[in-house]
Amino acid sequence: MRRDAGAGGVAGPPTGPATDLAIEALSWRVGGVSIVDGVNLALASGEFVAVIGPNGAGKTSLFNLVSGLRRPTAGRVRLAGADITGLPVHRRARLGLGRTFQSSSVFGSLRVDENVRLAVQAHRGGSMRAWRRPAADRGVAVAADEILAQVLLEARSRDTAGALSHGDKRKLEIALLLAGSPRVLLLDEPMAGVSAGDVPALVEVIRSLTRVHRRSVLMVEHHMDVVLDLADRVAVMHHGALLSCDTPAAVMADRTVQEAYLGEEL
Ligand SMILES: Nc1ncnc2c1ncn2[C@@H]1O[C@H](COP(=O)(O)OP(=O)(O)O)[C@@H](O)[C@H]1O
Ligand SMILES: [Mg+2]
Repeated sequence: MRRDAGAGGVAGPPTGPATDLAIEALSWRVGGVSIVDGVNLALASGEFVAVIGPNGAGKTSLFNLVSGLRRPTAGRVRLAGADITGLPVHRRARLGLGRTFQSSSVFGSLRVDENVRLAVQAHRGGSMRAWRRPAADRGVAVAADEILAQVLLEARSRDTAGALSHGDKRKLEIALLLAGSPRVLLLDEPMAGVSAGDVPALVEVIRSLTRVHRRSVLMVEHHMDVVLDLADRVAVMHHGALLSCDTPAAVMADRTVQEAYLGEEL
């Protein structure tokens, strides 16, 4: 199945064409300490996998390796079969890997729709002069409106982004990601800081990413009700290693998982 690396260093898929993201024996050691330890995880096309584990288990570090923020000390990452292990963040993003980065990507002083238009414009790669061409401008505006509808933010589109609730800000961050038409989305604790009243709508937006728009999602989340509601499979990390990756029901029933969490918050 495995092809030799080609001229561009891109090797064939080890787990079949339907695998969107393959994490292969991925490890990260810092100063002799193993932080991510030989993780293997494949994300099928359109699949939703939740990553759980106690604080310090290595979940964010794993995301950093997959998104390219950190370089692994061993192992590979493949996106739709292509080896992206050595690529910088922006090249992974261009190949279809999207990751939210807190609110830093949102321009708080601009309107919600202006934020999304800028993101669409940036991903289309046109110069800012395209804004002066009415047809191109309309195309960008239409695409931005579609994305705002997708993330249930139409009613907020004229509001200043900085005035949004945490839940709506999270939706806007997802909208900015969608502007790049990612194949795979990495969401690190999307519910963090979101008020209980905003959770259901955000859950619906995240659910629609896979169910309606057929993206693949890898999500770190502490709220187990949200994990059980959304995930096709749940991956459990503990001390940098993957303890288990199975259906939510199987993971909840797993003795090893229960023991790993005895006395610890999930
Ligand atoms: N840049 C770094 N250098 C050294 N240790 C780090 C670094 N980043 C994270 N760690 C350590 O790696 C472990 C896992 O952290 P992290 O991936 O943030 O866990 P999680 O997201 O599961 O809570 C923690 O013990 C943390 O202190
Ligand atoms: Mg974390």
